Amino acid sequence: MTENANIINAPEKAEAKKRIFSGVQPSGILTLGNYLGAIKNWVTLQDDYECLYCVVDLHAITVRQVPADLRRHTQEALALYIACGIDPEQSCVFVQSHVPAHAELSWVLNCNTMFGELSRMTQFKDKSQKHSDNVNAGLFTYPVLMASDILLYQTDLVPVGIDQKQHVELTRDVAQRFNGVYGDTFKIPEPYFVKTGMKINSLTDPTKKMSKSDPNPKSYVAIIETRDETIKKIKSAVTDSEACVKYAEGKDGINNLMSIYSSFTGKSFDEIEKEFEGKGYGDFKMAVGEVCADGLGPIREEYARLVKDKAYLEDVMKKGSDTASYLARKTLSKVYRKVGFYSVK
Ligand code: TRP
Repeated sequence: MTENANIINAPEKAEAKKRIFSGVQPSGILTLGNYLGAIKNWVTLQDDYECLYCVVDLHAITVRQVPADLRRHTQEALALYIACGIDPEQSCVFVQSHVPAHAELSWVLNCNTMFGELSRMTQFKDKSQKHSDNVNAGLFTYPVLMASDILLYQTDLVPVGIDQKQHVELTRDVAQRFNGVYGDTFKIPEPYFVKTGMKINSLTDPTKKMSKSDPNPKSYVAIIETRDETIKKIKSAVTDSEACVKYAEGKDGINNLMSIYSSFTGKSFDEIEKEFEGKGYGDFKMAVGEVCADGLGPIREEYARLVKDKAYLEDVMKKGSDTASYLARKTLSKVYRKVGFYSVK
């Protein structure tokens, strides 16, 4: 048993390593963007930090979901975390709705977050435009739920993409406000950004982030789709008419493909430019498609094996939510005490 597994089994000792929390919404099948932008990085953090990786299903219903799909995507996301290399013996892997403290803390933090602050969130503005028929209160208070996720575990670091920076800043503001009013309660978390592959964009509109909820499946590579599908999608990615593989402003399509290539090969942009000097986009796309399909191959195989093993996945979910609940309860009872809720022994 690893040292970290001991820590999880005996949470009193958990102070030793810094703690990390992150999550992905099960609002679709996970994409190459989720892998390169988040999960691949999560894997490398496991040895040095005490990590909690959550499938944030409560967040997913801020946008209308088909219930059967949400249930399936939740299980798939968890299986994919593991297939990508998250070790549930070492890190705490769980489903957000299995730990009621997230929703409970969220209410208290809602009462300590200002309407004006939430109105300034750019993701809210974007999403309410995109889903103008369903601008529900949950979509508006989404960042408060995210703050609850983070603050419940006294998290030190939050690995996120740059698009989530504003939410982590809000989390810090809310925590500071709460600590100011009620006394020291929450650790103030820091965002943690990764460099390359941080943001993988859509293949059909490379000015936008790759999204699993994009209605056009050609816009993303799903981690578990077939090798041929991956290559085909990358081959038809939108680029420009310059026929020159170079990382430059305005060349969003090529920049995106170079980021993908770099993430899988470890080559720098300079090296990639040299490699493809004098070659056309056809050759370059073929090379990107192949490294991508090959890089995802082992994950695809491991996933296919895991997803059939429902008993194992449910066991991971149960153990994960036990560990998370234990940690979350400690913070929640402190919060309840501080705000003045009556408790009966
Ligand atoms: N909002 C994040 C996203 O859409 C997902 C998320 C929810 C999250 N809670 C979190 C990420 C807590 C980091 C920490 O990508």
